This record gives sequence, structure tokens and C-alpha cells, in this order.
Amino acid sequence: MACDGGPETGVTMTDPAGPADSSSPTDPTDPAVTTRPTGPARDDALFARGWALASPVLERAGLARARRKLVAGLSGTVVEVGAGSGATFEHYPPEVTRVVAVEPNRLLRERARRRADCLARTATDTAGRPRIEVVDSVAEALPVGDGDADAVVFGLVLCTVPDVPAALAEARRVLRAGRGDLTAGELRLLEHVRADGALGRAADRIAPLWGHIGGGCRPNQDTASLLAGAGFDTAGLRTRPFPPVVPAMPMLTGSARVAHSA
Ligand SMILES: C[S@@+](CC[C@H](N)C(=O)[O-])C[C@H]1O[C@@H](n2cnc3c(N)ncnc32)[C@H](O)[C@@H]1O
Repeated sequence: MACDGGPETGVTMTDPAGPADSSSPTDPTDPAVTTRPTGPARDDALFARGWALASPVLERAGLARARRKLVAGLSGTVVEVGAGSGATFEHYPPEVTRVVAVEPNRLLRERARRRADCLARTATDTAGRPRIEVVDSVAEALPVGDGDADAVVFGLVLCTVPDVPAALAEARRVLRAGRGDLTAGELRLLEHVRADGALGRAADRIAPLWGHIGGGCRPNQDTASLLAGAGFDTAGLRTRPFPPVVPAMPMLTGSARVAHSA
């Protein structure tokens, strides 16, 4: 049985706030909620519906394979930032014991919860499935203690996060520090970035409209520079064309750890 998160329940396109989320009420005293950066105005319901429609096509066209590579070899506790509808959940290797999946969009979060529940229910080998906690929070305020994460996963999300330097500082805070023989925790990335040349200039031109219909997504972000500015060593990252997505958007993929000098 496929665990795809299923359709949203009780939501119409005219309900941008989405349905009541009884399993995780938004607590106005929660710092992750009150300090949440808002970014440009955007229609979360429209984006959630659009992403739900586009995802199966993209998965079949190569995104599923890219997700498997994104999380291959990870172990322990992973923080997945902007988990969307949880399309990466099924790809975590058995060595990952816990996934804290952060998702601020209520509709996508509901789908992610359903997917996590379904994966847990249908698991034939429960020992090999991570415990997946889907949490209402944002990249800029991760609900995880200092040094508690073995890895932080960003998949198609840094392009949308309103405050990328704050998000990367949070990732640094929660990643395990290296000690003795223990290597430091790592970032894993699958992020579309600004292309060079004419395609990059075209991305600059379409950026305002793209952001409006794409949930705030910036098609022309130089994510590698932002990572370097946040103290991450980007030598392990590669930029590759990704055919299923608009060719103006090459993908930055791989692993990054805090630079020794940072
Ligand atoms: C293009 S979707 C990708 C979803 C998922 N990672 C995937 O690969 O299917 C971008 C995601 O980033 C989330 N997002 C936007 N702003 C965010 C923030 N400040 N913190 C965390 N996630 C955010 C959106 O809600 C959305 O789920």
C-alpha cells in the first residue's frame, strides 16, 4: 500500500488558513510561533494544493531517486526542515531512529502526519522505521536542543524560507559538534539555485511572479554563498541539472559540515 498522505480533508481553496489542526494547536505563547518570520504575502492553501498536484509527476520524473540520495547513509536523529507532505519519509534508511519533521504549512503538515502514520502502520519491519514527529514550526526556530541532531535535511526548502541566514544558524545550533573520533553532524541538501548566464537573468525577471504562485519560492537564490556565509564548508556540494524542474534551476546537492575555521 502506498503512503502518499492522501487528500486534504474539509478544505476549500477559499480557506487559506486550512482546517483546524486538533493534533497540534497553534500555541500563541510558543516562541516558534510568535517569532515566525512571515516573508512575502502568499497563499499557503494554493501552494499546498499546487504542490500536491505537482509532486507525483516530479517524483516519477526523478525526484524520488534524488530524495533517496539526499538521505542515504544518515543515522540517528534527523531534523527535516520544511518536510512538505512528507515525500522523503519513506526513503530514510533503517539507521535513522528519529525524524523531527518541521512544517509550517498546515495543509502540508496534515498530509505529512497522515503519511507518517501510514508508514508506521504498514511497516513490516518496525525496527527499521524511524519515529517520525511532524511539528508545526519553522526553519528559523527549530524545536530541537543544541547539538541534538546528527543531520539536518533541507530538500527544496531554502528557496522558500524567508530568513535563510537565521535558518542556517539554527541548523548549526542543533547539529552535533565533532568530538574526538565523533564527526560533526551534517547538512544534507537538495536545493534548486540560480543558474548562470541568460537562464539566471530570466530567473531574476520571473522571480516576483514565481514567488507569488510558488509559496514564496526564490528561483534565483545563490544558496552556496549563503551556506559559506553561515560558516559551512561547501566543498562537498555539487550543482547538477535536474531535468524534471525548469532547466533554469540547477540543483545544489550533497553534504556540508561546519567549516573548521568557522
Ligand atoms: C517546495 S516545498 C518542499 C517540501 C518538501 N521538502 C519536499 O521536498 O517535498 C517547500 C516547503 O518549505 C516550507 N517552508 C516555507 N517556509 C518555511 C520556513 N520558514 N520554515 C520551514 N519550512 C518552510 C513550505 O511550507 C513547504 O513545505
